[in-house]
Amino acid sequence: MSQSLTYDVLIIGSGAAGLTLGLSLPDHIQAAVISKDTLDAGSTRWAQGGVAAVLDDEDSVEAHINDTMTAGAGLCHDAAVRFTVENSTAAIQWLIDLGVPFTRDAEDHFHLTREGGHSARRIIHAADATGHAISETLLEKAKQRKNLTLLQDYIAIDLITREKLGLSEQGCIGGYFLNNRTGEVDSITARATVLATGGASKVYLYTSNPDGASGDGIGMAWRAGCRVANMEFNQFHPTCLYHPQAKSFLITEAVRGEGGKLLLPNGRRFMDRFDKRAELAPRDIVARAIDHEMKRLGADCLFLDISHKPAEFIKEHFPTIYERCLELGIDITKDPIPVVPAAHYTCGGVVTDNAGRTDISRLYAIGETASTGLHGANRLASNSLLECLVFARAAAEDITATIDMSRELETIPEWDSSQVTDSDEDVVIAHNWDELRRFMWDYVGIVRTTKRLLRAKHRVTLLREEIQEFYGNHKVTNDLLELRNLVDVAEVIIRSALLRKESRGLHYSRDYPHALPRAFDTVVTAKYLKELGHL
Ligand code: FAD
Ligand code: SIN
Repeated sequence: MSQSLTYDVLIIGSGAAGLTLGLSLPDHIQAAVISKDTLDAGSTRWAQGGVAAVLDDEDSVEAHINDTMTAGAGLCHDAAVRFTVENSTAAIQWLIDLGVPFTRDAEDHFHLTREGGHSARRIIHAADATGHAISETLLEKAKQRKNLTLLQDYIAIDLITREKLGLSEQGCIGGYFLNNRTGEVDSITARATVLATGGASKVYLYTSNPDGASGDGIGMAWRAGCRVANMEFNQFHPTCLYHPQAKSFLITEAVRGEGGKLLLPNGRRFMDRFDKRAELAPRDIVARAIDHEMKRLGADCLFLDISHKPAEFIKEHFPTIYERCLELGIDITKDPIPVVPAAHYTCGGVVTDNAGRTDISRLYAIGETASTGLHGANRLASNSLLECLVFARAAAEDITATIDMSRELETIPEWDSSQVTDSDEDVVIAHNWDELRRFMWDYVGIVRTTKRLLRAKHRVTLLREEIQEFYGNHKVTNDLLELRNLVDVAEVIIRSALLRKESRGLHYSRDYPHALPRAFDTVVTAKYLKELGHL
């Protein structure tokens, strides 16, 4: 039997963004925090380097703003950057007060590490497992809160808007969810709905992200009519471990921040040929340089070497990486680490303001799902967790101030599965997943050309039609729902990349190698692409 549940606030996603929002709501507001998998399944748990914030007397808000803007290649929104950085210290203090065990130095001060594009040491961290420490702390606190209901194995299918139900006033009223414990589709109604569903890097064959990074929130908001911006800017992390048994294992940028050198297979350094900041240039530059050298040399990987540092230092600062590499036969205190770039972060997303509000009233988007204007054309390292915290806290404040507790909640019609059957062709889903991720990697990767983008456009159009047809005729499963979101997201990435006739930040086109004099956002809606004849 399917269920109909109601909460004041429906938070889809239990990563740093979703949990921070939940924990920032007052006790009288009842909220559900939902994960399609276990509660710690998103990217948050895997974050290594740390959180960027102004925490040192030598550092300043202006310096952090400048570094963010420089990395963002002219496309950051001033107001969003200032808002984020000015709220960074308070956001970190909130985590410290909750008990996140950040690493301290010999004088018992918080140790601040450095990453690419930062002009100062400003990354607070818990060794090389910062995400794990944050996720554990937030979850532990959320479990103690009486006004929070934590639901796992619940995957959101689509948002329900008043418009969809043919009601007059616009607004989001909740969503449909596949409850994987019962196999039924439940509905959840709420006074405010929040998308905190993380990024979409799973759209690429090689990624640092965990399996669920399938852009579900972006897909749902897109289908509901929200504007989606700057999706061509997918960030590739320069250094993921290259090893047949190492699926999606990141080697944090902090390794370079603490002196790690990038090497060619012959042991020579090369980054200074690409940028005077060498290994500490922003990520787009380092990833492109590695890609260039790998292609030039026909190499399967390049190398990152920190072995010149004392073994004790390496083990203390990078215990997770040390252990994982050792399991695979690489002793990083002695040997260089084989690395390749991999899709890491979705800089674009659902357009929001500084309170996380989207185009649809009572619908918010926060964290990696959102496009707040902070990252521009390339995110500065460790600004993502910061964005999750700052915008989640701001959205909670806005919800608390505006929520209408007296409003009668709408009735959502039951999910209709009378026309669909169980699929006996799961191989189609598996094949489409694989095809999509492979051509995105090959044609829409670190270096792009118009010809390759057009090829990708052709393939994605065919795939979307096939997946739509499959979705219309078969019972929903997690794989099918994620694939449906991925194909929508892939299409938006490709269309956005084609609309950008320049190279800027993470979007590099051989056909348009220079940046235009004026930076502009790529803002699209499903309706707009349809009108252009694109959908
Ligand atoms: P996530 O943490 O990804 O959580 C998404 C949540 O949404 C999950 O609970 C998931 O189950 C749920 N969900 C998704 N779709 C659905 C659905 N359809 N229905 C129900 N639930 C759904 N950033 C930094 O700032 N510093 C770092 O050091 C850093 N290191 C990183 C290292 C790695 C390996 C990776 C992958 C990322 C790293 N990042 C880092 C980026 C950062 O971790 C993420 O951007 C951030 O954690 C995203 O948080 P989030 O709350 O938006 O989403
Ligand atoms: C890393 O630790 O290198 C990842 C940091 C980030 O993605 O911000």
